[in-house]
Amino acid sequence: MRINLEGKNSLITGASRGIGKAIAIKLAQAGSNVVINYKSSEKEALELCQELRTKYNIKAIAVKADVSNIDEVKQMKEVSNKELGPITILVNNAGITNDKLLRNMDIEIWDNVIRSNLYSVYNTCYVFVEDMINSRWGRIINISSIVGLMGSTGQSNYAAAKSGIIGFTKSIAREFAKRNITANVICPGYIETDMTAKLAPKIKEAIINSIPLGRPGQPEEVANLVTFLASDFSSYITGEVINISGGLYM
Ligand SMILES: NC(=O)c1ccc[n+]([C@@H]2O[C@H](COP(=O)([O-])OP(=O)(O)OC[C@H]3O[C@@H](n4cnc5c(N)ncnc54)[C@H](OP(=O)(O)O)[C@@H]3O)[C@@H](O)[C@H]2O)c1
Repeated sequence: MRINLEGKNSLITGASRGIGKAIAIKLAQAGSNVVINYKSSEKEALELCQELRTKYNIKAIAVKADVSNIDEVKQMKEVSNKELGPITILVNNAGITNDKLLRNMDIEIWDNVIRSNLYSVYNTCYVFVEDMINSRWGRIINISSIVGLMGSTGQSNYAAAKSGIIGFTKSIAREFAKRNITANVICPGYIETDMTAKLAPKIKEAIINSIPLGRPGQPEEVANLVTFLASDFSSYITGEVINISGGLYM
């Protein structure tokens, strides 16, 4: 049994680097056309598109859009519809951190993290669900975090956004189930990317020591789960929150 996404169009937000890039590669490997969304890493996004087109013989386009801004998301839909057609696999991966203890977290820091991690998910789902309804098939996969389940010192903004994604996803899973659209959440633990590279060495060591599998996760391991959820092998799974943390959260 092999996952086959030939003929599907996937949009991955924040696919220029890290987990999003790994997801785009796996979905393209499975035969899906891909929209590589990015905000600032244009060179990386364009290089990735070129690589995916050459290696997997699929269509790949890079589209610049700040997904926290609904007007830019609407413009992205115009481009993707014109170039590829309807998007039926939507992976909300874009996210940022800006850690501060609550007493130092002014409203700009709070607001920016909530907008980038949570408004972005509303924006893309609101704009792209129409494509899925018209196609009578859809997969929404939202990347949250175990921080949204556990909380984390210095991350009240990020935890609030990631927790919000869970309630949002369960609600739309209920709303769209009859339309043959599933919506699920993935909560990664500690994955080696630019986001975690900036943590202080002592904090990294402490986290790794508390992971039962004894190592950080790799972006490709999250991408494997996304690819499964994007496929027909996950047809009876909706409204689920799936942790991928090496046992860090169980
Ligand atoms: N790494 C972990 O341990 C971990 C754990 C749990 C959850 N997660 C979640 O997994 C997702 C990916 O994380 P990562 O570690 O791969 O992060 P990363 O390496 O820092 O990459 C973040 C990606 O998001 C994009 N992005 C950020 N804000 C955006 C916006 N407003 N509009 C469009 N794109 C935007 C960036 O694009 P540009 O480069 O173009 O700016 C980049 O491609 C995030 O949602 C994160 O919260 C990560």
